[in-house]
Amino acid sequence: MRGAVLTGLNEPLEIVDDLEVIEPRAGEVKVKMHTTGLCHSDLSVINGTIMQPMPCVLGHEGAGVIEAVGDGVTDVSPGDHVVLSFVSQCGNCYFCKRHEPYLCEKGTQAMATAALYDGTPAFSRGGKPVTQMSGCGTFAEYTVVPAGGVVKIDDSISLEAAALVGCGVTTGVGAVLNTAEVKPGSTVAVIGTGGVGLNVIQGAVVAGAEKIIAVDLLDNKLEMAKQFGATDVVNAGSGNPVAEVQSLTEGRGADYTFEVIGMAATMTQAYQMARRGGTAVMVGVPKMGELFSVMGFFPVYENKAIKGCWYGSADTRRDFPEYLDLYKEGKLKLDELITREFTLDEINDGFEALKNGEVARGVVRYD
Ligand code: APR
Ligand code: ZN
Ligand code: ZN
Repeated sequence: MRGAVLTGLNEPLEIVDDLEVIEPRAGEVKVKMHTTGLCHSDLSVINGTIMQPMPCVLGHEGAGVIEAVGDGVTDVSPGDHVVLSFVSQCGNCYFCKRHEPYLCEKGTQAMATAALYDGTPAFSRGGKPVTQMSGCGTFAEYTVVPAGGVVKIDDSISLEAAALVGCGVTTGVGAVLNTAEVKPGSTVAVIGTGGVGLNVIQGAVVAGAEKIIAVDLLDNKLEMAKQFGATDVVNAGSGNPVAEVQSLTEGRGADYTFEVIGMAATMTQAYQMARRGGTAVMVGVPKMGELFSVMGFFPVYENKAIKGCWYGSADTRRDFPEYLDLYKEGKLKLDELITREFTLDEINDGFEALKNGEVARGVVRYD
């Protein structure tokens, strides 16, 4: 079958047609991919910001149709439409039992090793293993994942729109609704309004935030931010974005701030932009080893919280259908997030477009 494989850091993805995938074993499912989103985290694996063992089939934001299921799988059957979850839920570990499935021990291990629960990946080429990013590997025509790594959705929903729920929507909207629990009437500032940041903005609209300040370096992204509900925009390239946010909030700072890039400097800015008693939420994934600084006095004196947000603190089984309901009700814009569609052969062009800030989300369709 065909797929896109990362063979070395900063190399273009290699489009191959000799990729093999195992048949699902007990507790696993095989998915025929329909659409996959191109997320900055994929780019972060390509450039070494996020580490995954190579060669690796990237892709962790996708939707498709169940092709086959292994022994003991009862939640889904062939023909079901599903969205992949990049942290699968085992249902039995410490975290799953405490209703924090975004931290699932097995899902986390699969994510870190880019493999299935037994440590071996679903893919191979010429008899040699090829890993699957985050235990998913959506840049292939078929993949095999743990049954807890897919969520069944309504057949009537477009699989293109549903694919984005696999990462960007869930991370961004979940950061607002689950991690921060933004209250109606609040002021929110979002630094980085790309594929994930736009979802923080629309999550803030759903939460009933009154003022939503978008901060980005690119005017085209700030225009998109307005379309997704930003009430004010700040171009971080022209002036001091922290001072700008303060002046838009009577000098106080925002009730909630979100860093959605993954850079130390903007993490510090997100902290500084939050008001006394406010909350700064870190959503973007920085390079391992990077430190961000906050003077020790301030979290205490300002009674200010710094919250980390992994995968929108999601329970994918609860949240994927909820976000798709909001989409059906017109309260979440998913079609509008897709700026361009690419074929698998054009996937490297898709990443160039992401790098150049041309797209909210680019997607690859397999049909
Ligand atoms: N100040 C403000 N905005 C910035 C800055 C900066 N210094 N640097 C980059 N940006 C903006 C870019 O212009 C872009 O609009 O941040 C945005 C990042 O968006 P995308 O590239 O679309 O990335 P996205 O897919 O949204 O992912 C963002 O979340 O899931 C994680 O790993 C992912 O860390 C990444 C982050
Ligand atoms: Zn992602
Ligand atoms: Zn678990």
